[in-house]
Amino acid sequence: MAAEKASSNYRALVVNSIGADLHIEERSMPDAVPGSVVVRILASPVLSYQRDIYDGTRAYPFSTPIVGGCSAVGRVVFVGPDATVLQPGKLVWVDCVVRGRDDRDAVFLWGIHEGSTASSKKLAREVWHDGTYAEIARVPLENCIPLDEGRLCDNGNRGLGYSSRDLIYLWHLSVPFGGLRSIDVKPGETVVVCPATGGFGGAGTHVAAALGARVIAMGRNEEELARLKTFIGKGIPSAHIETVHITGDKEVDTSSLMAFGTIDAVLDLSPPGAAQSTHLLSAVAALRRGGRISIMGSVGLNIIDWNFLSNDLVAKAKLMYDREDLLLLVKMLEAGLFARGAGLVKTKHFALDDWQEAFDEATTYTGVGRIVAFSP
Ligand SMILES: NC(=O)c1ccc[n+]([C@@H]2O[C@H](COP(=O)([O-])OP(=O)(O)OC[C@H]3O[C@@H](n4cnc5c(N)ncnc54)[C@H](OP(=O)(O)O)[C@@H]3O)[C@@H](O)[C@H]2O)c1
Repeated sequence: MAAEKASSNYRALVVNSIGADLHIEERSMPDAVPGSVVVRILASPVLSYQRDIYDGTRAYPFSTPIVGGCSAVGRVVFVGPDATVLQPGKLVWVDCVVRGRDDRDAVFLWGIHEGSTASSKKLAREVWHDGTYAEIARVPLENCIPLDEGRLCDNGNRGLGYSSRDLIYLWHLSVPFGGLRSIDVKPGETVVVCPATGGFGGAGTHVAAALGARVIAMGRNEEELARLKTFIGKGIPSAHIETVHITGDKEVDTSSLMAFGTIDAVLDLSPPGAAQSTHLLSAVAALRRGGRISIMGSVGLNIIDWNFLSNDLVAKAKLMYDREDLLLLVKMLEAGLFARGAGLVKTKHFALDDWQEAFDEATTYTGVGRIVAFSP
């Protein structure tokens, strides 16, 4: 790898204002000030609804102009003076969840939204403003998680054979992992993932299986449910996955779930478009006494009824994951708990200039093991 020059420029994909076309801008290389790391971005995922964020369909709050983004896989270019372990050249996971260093209530996702407190908005507007849809990003030191490149990327016996760019699948895995951890899902428990045919739902099924849970995957698309079961079974032969077709009849779907016996937990990753669907109500109705629900999606507000109360159910809302969750997930990946090499994920990579195509593709290229990314 050629040494980076502090004077060189880089290209970034900029959202000038909500609803406007994005454009490429040339920027000058940032310094690594204390508390920061400058990273060369190798790949950064595109959400299935990334376009909706930048055209205002999903009214996420952020100030413009902004370099769009998400999390990323990158390589350290420069480190600030307070870095003790990270060094130039190191492969890192760049986590987009920024947390206030002196205010635990300040949390936001850079390139996606600026959070809801005065502190998060200050940090998002004045310090950690620009995201990872760029060749270079300056990121908080603590948001760079070192990756064991030898273990993850070598093709020999010691390595797992992943390409460094395909490691962006950590993005899909990390979100549901945060939800599953927040309700303490344990090996041997049974967890319903609903809906399971999307990017995060598919990965939720994947990571729950890697945790040793039995998973009941719910979805409307039976073909995709079958692909999900096969895909995960190939990489995790011990995976125990059942599927339930969402029929739209709440009682029928509850009975289908209960036919599998005791259900301990539910992971919800419903998009706003599923507001009228009864799948989450069915899953909650099928829970055992004291069962837990992780609400990560957008339809969880109407689950509290007499059944909820009389069965001592517990609902926990979760934004993303805690930092400890991410560190553990990286360890699980490095430990070889997922499929090796190309069995982990099939990524479609796009150049920054092809942002329209990337956003289009991300709306349809969904489901387990599928992800769209910018690879600047
Ligand atoms: N809490 C957090 O931190 C967090 C983080 C990231 C995302 N999320 C949430 O997760 C959601 C899913 O994201 P994604 O990228 O996985 O989306 P996605 O890939 O587009 O998947 C959407 C899923 O929802 C299902 N669905 C859509 N409309 C439905 C309906 N009317 N009835 C039943 N199922 C329906 C789809 O089923 P089909 O396959 O049948 O279309 C698919 O399984 C997001 O919308 C977001 O709100 C939350």
